[in-house]
This record gives sequence, C-alpha cells and structure tokens, in this order.
Amino acid sequence: MPTAESKQYIDLEEKYGAHNYHPLPVVLSRGKGCYVWDVDGKMYFDFLSAYSAVNQGHSHPKIVTALNTQAETLCLTSRAFYNDALGPYEKYMHDYFGYDKILPMNTGAEAVETALKLTRKWGYQKKGIPEDEAIIVACEGNFHGRTVTIVSLSTDPEARAGYGPYTPGIEVVPYNDVTALSSIFEEKGASIAGFLVEPIQGEAGVIVPDEGYLKGCYDLCKAYDILFIADEIQTGIGRTGRVLCCDHEGVRPDIVILGKALSGGVLPVSAVLADDEVMLTIQPGQHGSTFGGFPLACKVATAALEVVREEKLAEKADRLGNIFRDELKKIKSPFIRQVRGKGLLNAIVVAPYNGKEAWDLCMKMAENGLLAKPTHGHIIRFAPPLVITEEELREAIAIIKESVTSLE
Ligand SMILES: Cc1ncc(COP(=O)(O)O)c(C=O)c1O
Repeated sequence: MPTAESKQYIDLEEKYGAHNYHPLPVVLSRGKGCYVWDVDGKMYFDFLSAYSAVNQGHSHPKIVTALNTQAETLCLTSRAFYNDALGPYEKYMHDYFGYDKILPMNTGAEAVETALKLTRKWGYQKKGIPEDEAIIVACEGNFHGRTVTIVSLSTDPEARAGYGPYTPGIEVVPYNDVTALSSIFEEKGASIAGFLVEPIQGEAGVIVPDEGYLKGCYDLCKAYDILFIADEIQTGIGRTGRVLCCDHEGVRPDIVILGKALSGGVLPVSAVLADDEVMLTIQPGQHGSTFGGFPLACKVATAALEVVREEKLAEKADRLGNIFRDELKKIKSPFIRQVRGKGLLNAIVVAPYNGKEAWDLCMKMAENGLLAKPTHGHIIRFAPPLVITEEELREAIAIIKESVTSLE
C-alpha cells in the first residue's frame, strides 16, 4: 500500500494526468547509479532502467557535467543555423558506429519514423519502386513506438485499437522465422523497400530469436535488394553485451535506430545511422525537428557514449548477464516458468500460482527493495543499469529469490 506521502503524488497524477500508464504505486524522487529512492527515503535497485534508457546509471557524473556545462553555454539553436556542437558529435557518431552519416532526432518513435521515411525515399529513388507502392515489412509482436504509422505496424491490439485508419504499405511476418520472410520477399520483393526488426523484442517480453536469425534475415535482404533496418533503441548501447545487439551475429544493418541510452537517460536523444546511399535521399526541407541534434543533446550523447566505452559497459553486461541468468535458473519455484535474455536484458516468464501473478511478485520485490515491472501481464523484465557491480547484482538476485520464495 502506498504511504500517505506517496499517495498525494499518485492522486495528483490520477486527477490531472491522462490515464495512459499503469505504474507500480512507488513514487520516486532521486536516483544514483543502479539505485533509486522514493519520497519516503526507501532505497531500491532499479531493475527497469527506464526501459533501458539508464544504462550508464542514474545521474552519471560525467553526463551530468556535460549537461550542466553545455546548458550554461548554449542549449538550442534550431537547424536554421550551424552550431559548434553538432558537427563534432556527428563525426564522433561516425567514428563510434562506422556509418557515413547520422540523422539526429529526439524520441525513439521519431527516429523510427525517420528510418521509415528514409526507407521509402530509398525505395523510390534507388531501388526504383513505383511511386506510392513501397512496402515495409515488420515482425509480429514488434514494439517501435506510438505514432500512427508505428502503431500501424503493431500487432498488439492494446497499442493499435481505435487509432485507424492505419498507414498503408505495411506487411507483417512472424518473428524469428526466416522462412516466412523469404516467402514474402519471394512474393513481393520488387516492391519491398525495407525490413524493420528488433534484434531482441524488448516490449514483447524479451523474446530472443534463434542464433542465426538476424544473419539469415540480413542475407535475404541483400539477395532481394531490401534495406535491413535494426531498431536498437532498447537493445543498443551495451545493453545485451555488445555495443549493438546485431554485433552478436556480425550483422551490419543498412539503417540503425538508436535512442534511450544514447543520452544515458538524461534527455530524449535519438539517432538514425546510415551510409550516404540511403541518407542522402533526403534533401534540405524534406525532414527535420526543432530539437533534433540540439547542442545540449550533442554534448550529452557524446558523454554518454564515452562512459559506455570507458567503463566497458558492454563487456560488463555480457559477463554479469551470464551470472544473472545462471543464478535465476537455480531458483526452483512454481512461479518461474522460464528465464531468458542476453547480456543484462533479461526476463522471467511467471506462471500464476496460489492466486498470485507477476504483478504480485513485482509488488513483493518492491517491498523488498527492487523495482521491476510486468510486461504483457505474465513476464517480468530485469534490466538494471549496466554500472551495477557483481556484488550489487548478487544482492539483487537474493532479493528476487526471497520475494519468489515468500510468495509461494
Ligand atoms: C525497440 C523500441 N523502439 C522504439 C521505442 C520507442 O521509443 P520512445 O518511447 O522514446 O518513443 C521503444 C520504447 O520502448 C523501443 O523499445
């Protein structure tokens, strides 16, 4: 039950905010590293990391210093003028990820929209698809954001219902199924401009495809002259044990979409990466955003990426992820049907037991000092900030174990 202190904040949101979320009844007021504190001063492990936006930990000093320094100097110019932060950031992104160019945006959904627009432009200008006939293929169970076009790709009735009419030019195939992709390419390949995929489906419940799936899809895309577009908004920036999740299979997507941890959770910063053949299909005036690539974002993102490298966060996620899954698999409980994930993007599938469900387990873990949230009712995602130490991780595992046991 929420305390009197927290209840007043919950009531305000209930009364004055749209009801588009269903949060756990915990009211947070401070964060540092892998910890957050509520308004009553209780400390928790943050095992959601704002859906993997806080890979570098809450209020990382290097990122906050970059934010403060730039905030006192120049925040926003718009792209009507040049500024002295954007060019150096763009070069940094080129050197870091190895793509010719970056198109900077703010939220993840905007970056996905940008990638879809680029894909259509490329389809018409380079592949020669007749005007207005370009198709983009997405996967069942996907989550790419909340715009009308993106929910047009969605197969989740909750995300989609009531928002039609939907954007045309979309086909959806089963995830983790190279044969299904091959069939649609065979049937409609001449009109297909791009294949959009999450290397691991995060919101769907950390669905890890079979090894070789991404490479298989990539090879098919090459065979049919179709762009392979990786939405690495949740899986990128070290989360799964590599800088990009596609690195696990040595796949270099034609378009990479980044967001979330690109700023360490400090600002909404997103980006689309591509080589010139794709990126230069968009000309001045054809796309943009007032804030996209603003000086504050450029400095924050550069610092956030430096932290990932300096603190070897991808390597750490790889090592700690193995420990985490090994330890969770040792918990023998009727609640835990499956443990899965890669690096520090993990989930358990919860089987209802004794009238208790995933939500009850999350409430119990919160009581015991660890925050996580169910997705799709019966799956609990575990994605701590990558700065967590092995000792802290083992403490967190003990909390999960104790919470599961006490519910049985
Ligand atoms: C894979 C993926 N793509 C896109 C998005 C949308 O990002 P945003 O909420 O910043 O618009 C998310 C957010 O959870 C995501 O996980």
